[in-house]
Amino acid sequence: MSYSAILLVGGMGTRLHPLTKATPKPMLNVAGVPFIEHQIVRARESGVSEIILATSFLAELFQPHFGDGSEFGISIKYSIEEAALGTGGAIRHASNLLTGSGPVVIFNGDVLSGHDLAGQIEFHINQEAEVTLYLTTVPDARAYGAVELSGDRVIAFNEKMANPPTNTINAGCYIFNREVIQEIPDGKVVSVERETFPQLLADSRRVFGFVDDSYWLDIGTPSALVKASQDLVLGHIVSAATPAHLGDALVAFGATVGEGSKITGGSVIGKGAVVESGCVIEGSNVGAGAVIGSGTVLRNSFVANNCQVPSGTLGNSCFLGF
Ligand code: GTP
Repeated sequence: MSYSAILLVGGMGTRLHPLTKATPKPMLNVAGVPFIEHQIVRARESGVSEIILATSFLAELFQPHFGDGSEFGISIKYSIEEAALGTGGAIRHASNLLTGSGPVVIFNGDVLSGHDLAGQIEFHINQEAEVTLYLTTVPDARAYGAVELSGDRVIAFNEKMANPPTNTINAGCYIFNREVIQEIPDGKVVSVERETFPQLLADSRRVFGFVDDSYWLDIGTPSALVKASQDLVLGHIVSAATPAHLGDALVAFGATVGEGSKITGGSVIGKGAVVESGCVIEGSNVGAGAVIGSGTVLRNSFVANNCQVPSGTLGNSCFLGF
């Protein structure tokens, strides 16, 4: 069986400013490739054959990389919102491009996860659910949608609150029956988290939770973005989209590393970048064409493409050249 999916990539990524001023969050380089490449390849591996990218902010930047998807073994189409329609409005708008039949997988374009998507789809079908939310458990649920369950059934959805009643959260991947998508008003701004889910629950619809506590990370903050890239390079989460590399760093073809420089901790050195001599680059992402002057020490940092970092720079958790 093959499935269709919608990948939500139209947000402004405000928590990652200034990185996301010119590059949408889903297109930021994470472990050597645009972030959503990890999600797209994983979706394909789980039986998804068609993905609609629901774009809005900087919509034109996706197609040049992903094309029609053939390079990635999947069909990719682009839904463009002239003005952002919110998560629910985006799903409804993108659904006009779906082919085939059967339930639709919806992904937030900022979640790195090792969850069992095929298992979630099977669970959705077996439960005869209308919507199934992938849920995970976090130590502090305040920044997320806390989801209350009765057995496998979702009974309450509490979007971002000061005292969440549970640590089980919406992990940003849903299965929707097509009829439920068609009920979302077309061409209107709608939030699935604040409107669609609460309304479905108020109407006692069949909304289920699929709890999976494997690797999960919302890459929406600077520290999480750095960690996602490190974890992929270090193999804490495996992605077929991560370029092959040796050891605990990924140095792209054509990048040069000067004498005595140490590249460690899941760092990525982009295409054509130059790291001069005597540098320590730990857990950091150096963009394509950047030049890191000699004796620089960078930890948990991001360097923009083509940025010139002066010799002797000391940086910890910083973003250079954005
Ligand atoms: P912040 O501004 O930092 O909160 O980031 P965001 O709005 O980009 O992401 P958020 O976590 O709020 O949204 C979850 C997912 O939905 C992300 O992948 C966004 O790209 C996407 N998204 C949010 N709003 C829209 C929208 O209006 N249209 C579309 N197509 N996608 C959206």
